[in-house]
Amino acid sequence: TSMTLQSTTDNSFIKKLQTSGRSLVVFYGSQTGTGEEFAGRLAKEGAKYRLKGMVADPEECDMEELVNLKSIPNSLAVFAMATYGEGDPTDNAMEFYEWLKNGDADLTGLNYAVFALGNKTYEHYNEVGIYVDKRLEELGATRVYELGLGDDDGNIEDDFITWKDKLWPAVCEFFHIESTGEDVSMRQYRTEEYDEPLERIFTGEMARLHSLKNQRPPFDAKNPYLAPIQVNRELHKDGDRSCMHIELNIEGSKIRYDSGDHVAIYPVNDRELVEKLGTLCDKDLNTIFSLINTDEESSKKHPFPCPCSYRTALSYYVDITQNPRTHVLKELAEYCSDPADKEKLKLMSSTSSEGKALYQKWVIEDNRNIVHILEDIPSCKPALDHVCELMPRLQPRYYSISSSSKVHPTSIHVTAVVVEYTTPTGRLNKGVATTYLRKKKPQPETEKPVVPIFVRKSQFRLPTKHQTPVIMIGPGTGLAPFRGFIQERDHAKNEGKEVGETILYFGCRKKCEDFIYGEELLEYEKKGLLKLYCAFSRDQPQKVYVSHLLEQHTDEVWRLIGESNAHLYICGDAKSMATDVRNVILKIFQENGKMTEPEAQAYLKKMETQKRFSADVWS
Ligand code: FAD
Ligand code: 2AM
Repeated sequence: TSMTLQSTTDNSFIKKLQTSGRSLVVFYGSQTGTGEEFAGRLAKEGAKYRLKGMVADPEECDMEELVNLKSIPNSLAVFAMATYGEGDPTDNAMEFYEWLKNGDADLTGLNYAVFALGNKTYEHYNEVGIYVDKRLEELGATRVYELGLGDDDGNIEDDFITWKDKLWPAVCEFFHIESTGEDVSMRQYRTEEYDEPLERIFTGEMARLHSLKNQRPPFDAKNPYLAPIQVNRELHKDGDRSCMHIELNIEGSKIRYDSGDHVAIYPVNDRELVEKLGTLCDKDLNTIFSLINTDEESSKKHPFPCPCSYRTALSYYVDITQNPRTHVLKELAEYCSDPADKEKLKLMSSTSSEGKALYQKWVIEDNRNIVHILEDIPSCKPALDHVCELMPRLQPRYYSISSSSKVHPTSIHVTAVVVEYTTPTGRLNKGVATTYLRKKKPQPETEKPVVPIFVRKSQFRLPTKHQTPVIMIGPGTGLAPFRGFIQERDHAKNEGKEVGETILYFGCRKKCEDFIYGEELLEYEKKGLLKLYCAFSRDQPQKVYVSHLLEQHTDEVWRLIGESNAHLYICGDAKSMATDVRNVILKIFQENGKMTEPEAQAYLKKMETQKRFSADVWS
């Protein structure tokens, strides 16, 4: 049919497929790289079935061309789609999602399959993938294999390989093709190493060379701002855990933020771990190298900024603390000199139940990272450039900004708990970003330590009118964005504005230990701005949580929400806290608001669409 619609620009994925003799395109909606990684693995495996594959970022493609994919014989589009935040598509899939939702393209003849990536602890589990799978069918496309659901709270690697294992036979049956039987362990990138010194080498930049030396606004994810840390102090008064209050100076950066926004911080991997990995792979980390995509059609020439030294790659660009996925173990197996070691790694990367169980136990439960694996399998000596290709990109960490720009226009405050724990094999694991931040303490008379940051806008917002009452529920570091909210309402009140009821439910272990910002909060309470309810869970024999306190104030909660149009916010631990609180709220709606359970659910949903209820939760 009509090929006239086909654009001839670089955005034409059809043209790329045609010129390179491919029939499989794998699109991804990815925020932290997992969706993209899965897409890459699927595209590569297509070769096993003579379906030469290509990975594509929907943001860089003219997605309307999906109507023409059928012009390529035996063509297949696979979608690895992550759900983010409150059931939203990832940034790079936003436009495609809107196009699917609002458009009425005729996708008859398009063959597709969807794998959804999500997290069960969140309310809107895998909504995006579920929708894309359903909508493609509605528009006339043909589902070649059923939707796969990946749960990052469980074992998403297992979900993925289990799905993939059934996808391929379904694809073969659909197209009447057979597996070539060949294992594909082609490298996606070729390596160049340089003996002579190079002038242009990256040293931790995210995109532009020297962007960290020659700082130029506007600052964003590709061009982070090196913010000086002007304050870094301990918030806990006792106990063995640590919570940092950090103030990032943004003076002169032109960075703006609103209360409720997130600040992203690019961390650097622990030096000791980096050096260990170099030693385990027998590589001089000063060597300069590049990884260059062997697929010339790909818009992604390098997996990270190259050329750089191995030390830079391991410190700034690759994640070396995650539990490696099964395809990594499969590649590592090839580097074992001891056949028993090789078998063990191969088994763990297989989809047999024995292999899956061993992977679950030895990698996931025992919590081994790449360094631990190489330490425990000493006959495995992989090429470090291959390891750099296989490991995912190191991601920035997000923090709910704990200040108000009305009060602190030149600084961004962060409230972060230090992650540190011992694994079942007796190793001390340290959180990448919080360990990095913990060492960045400003000293008098010396230049302030700096960290690369950018601000990410959020939907978590105070009501536009100060008179509107707010109920904020934020135990632990869930307090962070509410500290900004409270500062903002205090500021408005100081300016003579009328401010509605401001209620905070806070919870921590012990009043004398981790009651973070206790003095400030009590001061706001004394001033009459804040109504504070605290649940100190371990100050008495039985646990007291914020959810219990809510149960004691049902009349007040309903009066404010049902009668005074209050806004309701939950922030913090996505796992049990957010769900428990939600259930108490639903119970209050039912009992005090005289609703049935479905009515209460619908009421909360409506509050959500009206932006009267928001959750900012993480796991
Ligand atoms: P990582 O190196 O990423 O390690 C963390 C991982 O280690 C965990 O995911 C878990 O897999 C594992 N782990 C941790 N503890 C254990 C344990 N005891 N046993 C076994 N495994 C364990 N954090 C804050 O402190 N304050 C905030 O205001 C805040 N706001 C956030 C807002 C958003 C939108 C999001 C997405 C996250 C937020 N976080 C916040 C979390 C933050 O982004 C980081 O995840 C956190 O600081 C840990 O980062 P890290 O690099 O130090 O740890
Ligand atoms: P705990 O650690 O004593 O169980 C901040 O982390 C506070 O939240 C702690 O006091 C913690 O109590 C508490 N907490 C743990 N689970 C919770 C839940 N499901 N709902 C509310 N608070 C919870």
